[in-house]
Amino acid sequence: MNYFIETIGCQMNICESDKLGQALSSYGILKVNVLQKADIVILNTCSVRSQAEQKAFSFLGRAEEFKKENLNIKIVVVGCMAERIGHKIKHRFKSVNLIIGAKDIDNAALRIADLCNVSNYSIIESEKASDIIKYITIMRGCDNYCSYCVVPFVRGKEISFNSSDIIEDCRLAVNNGAKEIMLLGQNVNSYKYDDIKFTDLVKNIAKIDGLERVRFMTNHPKDLSNELIDMMATESKVCSHIHLPMQSASNNILLAMNRKYTYGRYLTLIKKLRTAVPDISVTTDIIVGFPGEAEEDFEQTLKAVKEIRFGGLYVFRYSSRPNTRAASMCDDVSLEDKKRRHSIILKESNKISIEIVASMVGTTQQVLAEKIEGGVIEARTGSGRKVFVKCASKKDLGKQLNVNIKEAKINSLFGEII
Ligand code: SAH
Ligand code: SF4
Ligand code: F3S
Repeated sequence: MNYFIETIGCQMNICESDKLGQALSSYGILKVNVLQKADIVILNTCSVRSQAEQKAFSFLGRAEEFKKENLNIKIVVVGCMAERIGHKIKHRFKSVNLIIGAKDIDNAALRIADLCNVSNYSIIESEKASDIIKYITIMRGCDNYCSYCVVPFVRGKEISFNSSDIIEDCRLAVNNGAKEIMLLGQNVNSYKYDDIKFTDLVKNIAKIDGLERVRFMTNHPKDLSNELIDMMATESKVCSHIHLPMQSASNNILLAMNRKYTYGRYLTLIKKLRTAVPDISVTTDIIVGFPGEAEEDFEQTLKAVKEIRFGGLYVFRYSSRPNTRAASMCDDVSLEDKKRRHSIILKESNKISIEIVASMVGTTQQVLAEKIEGGVIEARTGSGRKVFVKCASKKDLGKQLNVNIKEAKINSLFGEII
């Protein structure tokens, strides 16, 4: 049997789709890259913004159309939206066979195999192409209840996974050829398992022979300790990149968002990080149009974007989510204002990105070679910027290369091996 999987949502969802795929292949259910060739169509969903849910609905519309001519296929919906409104999905899309919420994702492969009457399987060792970058989830859920956010509702309480298991997974990945490990969680810096804190975990992972780089995301500013900053400064394998969502620079809005820091505190963290790790790239998330966001609140956020000069940012228009605290506030910023503020932030951030990449032309950067296509290697700097390297060969894959940057575009650099 074959499955096709479509994934919407964050890096964690991508990671879980990957894991689900691996588990399915051990039941002899194998992946195809086009929906039309699948016996099982799986949709992994996200609830963070209404747009993400709309996307899922339109995918399901297409899947239903396909099923009309292929009555035997199974449609399975998993993930955050399945957790939040599984019954509604089932009601609206009658041909959906199985709904598995985010909290039950670990059982998804078994339930899908059951649905398809795949039993008495001889567990087939799945042969997976070795990943140069391995994503490893270290925790699930979130207890922060930012007032706009649905994640604590769909993912449940924050639970840190067993540190020995994580380290073992990392070791296994490195034995299988991984050179970089990306640790994932909604709030990785609050990781704690028995006496093991996040910094202890990272230090232990960094000890693995053969591993070149460690990254992690996402960090909550309220939990960013001096210890973590020191670790970033001293552990050479830890990349000079931190994703630190700011959301807003207005203290009124930060308070209403229940973020538990002020802009002043956020700025202090940035200064500390930049002192400790001079080449660090700080990236962020921003929400515009949160309830009550006045023009002057927005101006503060814009000013902060100019002042901090983020290495990159994601900006979102506020989207009211059911059950969250902000859902009971008046969504009073007009769509027009949300769109305008969104595009102002984006424009400013693009301008800064262009300046940052332009200043990299002529410098030498150490990059990790991730992929090769037609003699061009796709690599990444420690700060997370994509670099295309010409005249490379397959044997360079998985290696750290010193590259001279020749040309810069907003989202990519072009270089030559020195
Ligand atoms: N745990 C991460 C974020 C997860 S969601 C953290 O705290 O940083 C990713 C981003 O989506 C958030 O940082 C926020 O900027 C955005 N987001 C979350 N809920 C949103 C909503 N209701 N409307 C618009 N953007 C939202
Ligand atoms: Fe959502 Fe806040 Fe938790 Fe991030 S920290 S997942 S924004 S509640
Ligand atoms: Fe991720 Fe979306 Fe769920 S951001 S945790 S897939 S709601």
